[in-house]
Amino acid sequence: MNRFWVEEIWRMGLLAGVALVLSGLFGNFFSWLLLVSLLYLAWHIHNLAKLGRWIEKRLSGESPQSSGIWEEIFIQLHRFRQRNRRRHKRLVSRLSRFQEASQALPNAIVVLNNEGSIEWCNSATTRLLGIHTTHDLGQRILNLIRNPALVNYMLRAEFEEPLTLLSPIDDSRTLSIRVVAYGTDQRLLIARDITHMQRLEEMRRDFVANVSHEMRTPLTVISGYLELFAEADNRDSDEFDDVVVRMSEQASRLQSIIGDLLLLSRLESEKKYTASHEAVNVAQLLKMLLEEARSLSGYKNQQISLECDDELFITGNDQELRSAFSNLVFNAVNYTPAGGEISLSWCRDDEGAHFAVRDTGIGIPTQHIDRLTERFYRVDVGRSRHSGGTGLGLAIVKHVLQRHRAHLHIESQVGQGSVFRCDFPPEQIVTVTEKVS
Ligand SMILES: Nc1ncnc2c1ncn2[C@@H]1O[C@H](COP(=O)(O)OP(=O)(O)OP(=O)(O)O)[C@@H](O)[C@H]1O
Ligand SMILES: [Mg+2]
Repeated sequence: MNRFWVEEIWRMGLLAGVALVLSGLFGNFFSWLLLVSLLYLAWHIHNLAKLGRWIEKRLSGESPQSSGIWEEIFIQLHRFRQRNRRRHKRLVSRLSRFQEASQALPNAIVVLNNEGSIEWCNSATTRLLGIHTTHDLGQRILNLIRNPALVNYMLRAEFEEPLTLLSPIDDSRTLSIRVVAYGTDQRLLIARDITHMQRLEEMRRDFVANVSHEMRTPLTVISGYLELFAEADNRDSDEFDDVVVRMSEQASRLQSIIGDLLLLSRLESEKKYTASHEAVNVAQLLKMLLEEARSLSGYKNQQISLECDDELFITGNDQELRSAFSNLVFNAVNYTPAGGEISLSWCRDDEGAHFAVRDTGIGIPTQHIDRLTERFYRVDVGRSRHSGGTGLGLAIVKHVLQRHRAHLHIESQVGQGSVFRCDFPPEQIVTVTEKVS
């Protein structure tokens, strides 16, 4: 028991003693007890009134003076107030440090509530999005930035991929917009200026496209002369023949690399999802690919089969799909040993249309799978070079699929085989009436 309670019990004991003494002198104990109890109650009410006044003043100023249990209550409340003040100061200083840091960020940061209204934003937001850090608070962001792409992006609420947008106040700047959901229905919108990166990317694309283009003409001339040499009757030696054959092989390899690079830079420079809208007869395309794969397989004697839905057409570009699918099929032939099995399938389900290539080939170690679609990425450089591969095939596949809203899904086990599956969403499927018209 602490000293305040001891003091309080003493006080009660003293009052009871006074009642006892007075009743000894004048008799009538209960009346005296009632009187001292009323006095005790009045003292408590007096202290309660002090507490009430102090609370009204939000515990500011000096704490009221009292004794016993009330002294303890006033001391505890005083300490509680001190602690709260210290915590408040700490929070305020942390908040202002955080605000200083976010004001210094080059990226625009906007805190949005569940209705898409702006709760807070940093100064970069004014520079990149034209939103004022104080006047525009509480406004809906879509009322301030009336861009259809942004409206669509916010309404669809699929934020895995960033949105690329021209700055609403300066169309020479390109922004990358990301939205992160947090808390209960709160959103953080982050806009990054990617103008510089985009210019570099454009320069890289143009450089590759121009160099590839410039190399194509001299290479065609060299290949032409090599063909002439190969056909000429006045060849002196077998050795020379060999050299010409190898030079022709390398020349045609270079031609195919240049062709792939040109195709890639064309695919990259065109916008996403902009493949043309013709109805592609995939089954027919696959039947042709099956024949080509069988003739490529040649002496390897692989079992190549095709199972397909002849009625399943998709919207897209015939040539691009042919490049992508042939890459997958020829990879399966190249990376599956003699006697192996390769099965191609083209079917649909509730999730869309699927083209899959399954092989019983050499397989791919898991750590390489995520990087396969990078340009020039090969698992076993020696083996790929031997098979004539350059590592551009799957990069082309990725870009073609992106333009058809499709995704590449790869599963593989070393020594067991691989599955490369292209998943097209239902909206890419052409319905029968569309085909007829
Ligand atoms: N079906 C497969 N089985 C095993 N490995 C594969 C398979 N398909 C692709 N790979 C691996 O992925 C790498 C990248 O394939 P990609 O098609 O991009 O290039 P490539 O076949 O080497 O050359 P190319 O540009 O001529 O297609 C290949 O080098 C190979 O190591
Ligand atoms: Mg390939």
